[in-house]
Amino acid sequence: MSKFYKIIILAIFSVLLLLFNNFCSQNSVTTNSSEVDYSISPKGFPKIPFPKDNAYSSAKEKLGRYLFFDKILSKDSTFSCASCHNPRYAFANNVPNPLTINRFPLPRNVLSLVNVAYRNLIGWEGNEISLEDAIYHDFYSPLFFDNDTNEIFKRLSNHPFYPKMFEEAFGKKSKPYPYLAAKAIATFVRTLVSGNSAYDRYVRGDSNALTESQKRGMKLFFSDRTKCSVCHSGFLFTDLQFHNTGTTNHYFDFGRFYSTGKFEDRNKFLTPSLRNIEITAPYLHDGTYQTLEEVIENYNNGGYPTINKDTILKPLNLTEQEKEDLINFLKALTDWDFLNQERFKSFGY
Ligand code: HEC
Ligand code: HEC
Repeated sequence: MSKFYKIIILAIFSVLLLLFNNFCSQNSVTTNSSEVDYSISPKGFPKIPFPKDNAYSSAKEKLGRYLFFDKILSKDSTFSCASCHNPRYAFANNVPNPLTINRFPLPRNVLSLVNVAYRNLIGWEGNEISLEDAIYHDFYSPLFFDNDTNEIFKRLSNHPFYPKMFEEAFGKKSKPYPYLAAKAIATFVRTLVSGNSAYDRYVRGDSNALTESQKRGMKLFFSDRTKCSVCHSGFLFTDLQFHNTGTTNHYFDFGRFYSTGKFEDRNKFLTPSLRNIEITAPYLHDGTYQTLEEVIENYNNGGYPTINKDTILKPLNLTEQEKEDLINFLKALTDWDFLNQERFKSFGY
C-alpha cells in the first residue's frame, strides 16, 4: 500500500475514533437528573452497602426522596423527615430541641444523615436496628410522625402519583404499603453520601485544596497532642464507639446506658462524624453548644469532670491561632458538591 493510502486510512480511522468517543461521552453525561445513578460512592470511599433484601434502584431512590420530603406520612400532615433532617443543614437541623408533632421539645439534637449507610449503629445511643426498621418506627412513634400505618396506606393509595411510583419501585401490582415506603426512604437515605470536601480533594492529591491554616489545623487534628483523630477516625471521622467528652457537669441523658444497661456506658454517646460540621450547629447530643468555638474550648479545657469522662481528654493549652486553625480544618470537611445537588432543591427546604 502506498504511503498516501496509509495516511488516508489513518485519517478516516482517527475521525471515526473521535466520533465514537464523542458518542460515548455524550451517553455517559446524563442530561436528565432523574437518570443519575446515586448508588455510586465518591472516589476513595467503599461501595455503598445496600442490603440484599433492599437493593438500590433509581425508581426506589426517587420514591424514597419524594416520601422523605412529603408531610403526608405524619398524623396531621405537618411534619416530613426533612422538617428535622433539612438538606440545607446537611440533613440535620439548626435548632437544639425542635418541637415534635405533639408540641413538646425533642430531648436530643437532630443527627445528620450523611454517610449513615456505612454504619450499623444508629442514633446517639447506637441502637442496633436496621435503617428500614428505624424509619418504619418513625411512622408511628409519638416523637416523630405519630401516625397509624393503616392511615398511611390509605393516604398513599388515594394519592395521584404514589401508587404508580410504588409499582415502578417494587414491581407491578405492588401496593403502597408503609413497610415498602420505609424501604424506599432507606434507599434514599443510603445515597446521602458525602465525600467531596476540600479535605477529600487534598487527600486525592490536590495540594491547593486546603489553605495554610487548614493544613496546620489538619496536622493538629491528626496529632498525638490533640488526639482528635483517635475518636474521629477514618473516612467517616468516627470510631463508631461511645465516649463521654465532659461537655457539662451533669448529664440528664445517660445515652448509651439506656441501650446496654451497663454503668460503664452511662453518659456516653456515639462519636459523631464531623463531615459538614460547619453547617450542622447546634452541636452535641443535647445541642447545648452553638458554635465550633465552644466545642473546641471544651476540648481545650479537658472537659468537665463527669462520670465516665474519657481518660484521653486532657487540657490542650492551644494558642488562639491553633484553635482557629483547628476550626478552619473542620470547615474543610464541608462538601458543597453534595449539599448543592439538584435533587434536593425542588422540595422547597
Ligand atoms: C421531630 C424531628 C425528627 C423527625 C420528623 C425525624 N427525625 Fe430522624 N432523628 C431525629 C433526632 C432527634 C435524631 C437523633 C435521635 C437519637 O439519637 O436519639 C434522629 C436520628 C435519625 C437517624 C439516625 C442518624 C444517625 O446518624 O445515626 C436516622 C437514619 C433518621 N433520624 C432518619 C429519619 C427519617 C428517614 C425520618 C422520616 C421518616 C426522620 N428521621 C424523621 C429527629 C427527627
Ligand atoms: C474520646 C473521644 C473523642 C476525642 C478525643 C475527641 N472527640 Fe469530638 N466528640 C466525641 C464524642 C463522643 C462527641 C459527642 C459528645 C456528646 O454529644 O455529648 C464529640 C463531638 C464533637 C463535635 C460536635 C459534633 C456534633 O455533631 O455535634 C465536634 C466538632 C468535635 N467532637 C470535634 C473534636 C475535635 C476537634 C477534637 C480534638 C480536639 C475531638 N473532637 C476529640 C468524641 C471525641
